Amino acid sequence: MIPVITIDGPTASGKGTVASRVAAALGFDYLDSGALYRLSAYKALKENADLGNEEVLGELAGALAPRFESGRIFLDDEDVTDKIRAEEVGVAASKVAALPKVRAALLDVQKRARREPGLVADGRDMGSVIFPDAPLKVFLTASAQARAQRRFNQLKEKGIVANIDTLTRDLEERDRRDMQRPVCPLAPAKDAKILDSSELTIEATVAQVLQWYRELT
Ligand code: C5P
Repeated sequence: MIPVITIDGPTASGKGTVASRVAAALGFDYLDSGALYRLSAYKALKENADLGNEEVLGELAGALAPRFESGRIFLDDEDVTDKIRAEEVGVAASKVAALPKVRAALLDVQKRARREPGLVADGRDMGSVIFPDAPLKVFLTASAQARAQRRFNQLKEKGIVANIDTLTRDLEERDRRDMQRPVCPLAPAKDAKILDSSELTIEATVAQVLQWYRELT
């Protein structure tokens, strides 16, 4: 069986950084499933599609043909790597991700990412829905304040001034939407290991995931 490590958790919990570093350490592929929802939202916003129209958005998600090349993401030959990280796209992504037809349209592409020698997949439902047989499932959390502070620091590095209270409120609102939606709500898989990184460095968090994986093999 091709090994998969799933890392699920709320917005800005550090999943992406931790997952890509764990993948690099093990020589595994890395699946950023949130990018697929962000790409769907980006395309919908670009085409002025109604974000509540499930039929149209399901078709749009099914027809996406992104290219992942040397750490960059291209959609219809446009480099959208940074554009899909915009806050506006993240908020739209959490809306389109609540539509069952969008989730269904993105199912296959996620499952197909499981290739030798292994995969580290991050998202909200990697352990619970997409790879339920993954040998290691991690649910990475951190307090809203810790996550808002990290986001604040990231934005500051890019020269963007943000307000920490607004960031905290936005994160909490996004968490609420992800946790309360009827389809695939954000929740740890029953057999997931919970890792609270509020007080941990990235290195310590990566080390803990690798240690759990080594204990299995
Ligand atoms: O992880 P990221 O912030 O890039 O995800 C953007 C949005 O996509 C999330 O707020 C969530 O609503 C949605 N998402 C999801 N299922 C996943 C990954 C992301 O619903 N597996």
